[in-house]
Amino acid sequence: MWLRCVNPKMRTRKLSLTRLSGYVYYNSMSLPLYQKLRETAHRIAGTLPKPAFYESYEAVIRRADETLATDETISRCRTYLDESQLECAHGLYHCEAVARDAGAIVLIEARERGVDPSRIESLFTSSIIAGLLHDIKRKEQDHAVRGSMEAERILTALGMSLRERQYIADAIRNHEAFQETFDRDDAAGRLVSDALYDADKFRWGPENFTTTLWLMVDARNTPPEALHRMFREKMKGIEKIKDTFRTETGKRYGPEFINLGITIGNAIYDELSSLLRQ
Ligand SMILES: [Fe+2]
Ligand SMILES: [Fe+2]
Repeated sequence: MWLRCVNPKMRTRKLSLTRLSGYVYYNSMSLPLYQKLRETAHRIAGTLPKPAFYESYEAVIRRADETLATDETISRCRTYLDESQLECAHGLYHCEAVARDAGAIVLIEARERGVDPSRIESLFTSSIIAGLLHDIKRKEQDHAVRGSMEAERILTALGMSLRERQYIADAIRNHEAFQETFDRDDAAGRLVSDALYDADKFRWGPENFTTTLWLMVDARNTPPEALHRMFREKMKGIEKIKDTFRTETGKRYGPEFINLGITIGNAIYDELSSLLRQ
């Protein structure tokens, strides 16, 4: 399986029904129906090709992964991530995947965008930090704006330069789809911002249906009927992401992520419809 991050809780969750004041409360993911759908999602994902982005840029992605694991400044940023403040479905596994892919996109595109070669390393690190911190205020309203302010505070405490702080804060502020962006007249800053956006939107591919969806359902105790009612609308929203990628790399490889996700999503929807009819 090519997905690197799996929430360990998902493998060990046990059936848990608790009767309180006459109501039955349950963990949604304990429902056999959801377990079946999740298995279907993983089975179908296993039959689909790995997104070409990971095939084409294996070495660059490995480098981003290694930097994410070993760089000292990045490790210090990680200590500010409070998992309880990250929405479960946008937890550390999500932030690390975004950080890795954003770093890779910067390395892929920096030269083409005419970035001074001596600045590439610092932009690479900045994009990884932006990925790690981008959902730090995920539970709050306007989480992109609130997150950029929090990142600015953290990076100041870590002694980062004004320029790096601005790049990272701007990128976090710009990472939501279908929102106005705040762009400075600075190609290097825009690269960090665009790379973060695209890396975040890659997550709407297979990962959304093998991992994120089930974390959401579990956290919100979503009844299957409610999931069924909202499913088609959500799928339309995901489809629209295809036209929003901002880097050349994102435009080239992003739609494939989305299409692979939609293939899995359609199968889940069909199975859910049939299970609810029974
Ligand atoms: Fe976000
Ligand atoms: Fe995110």
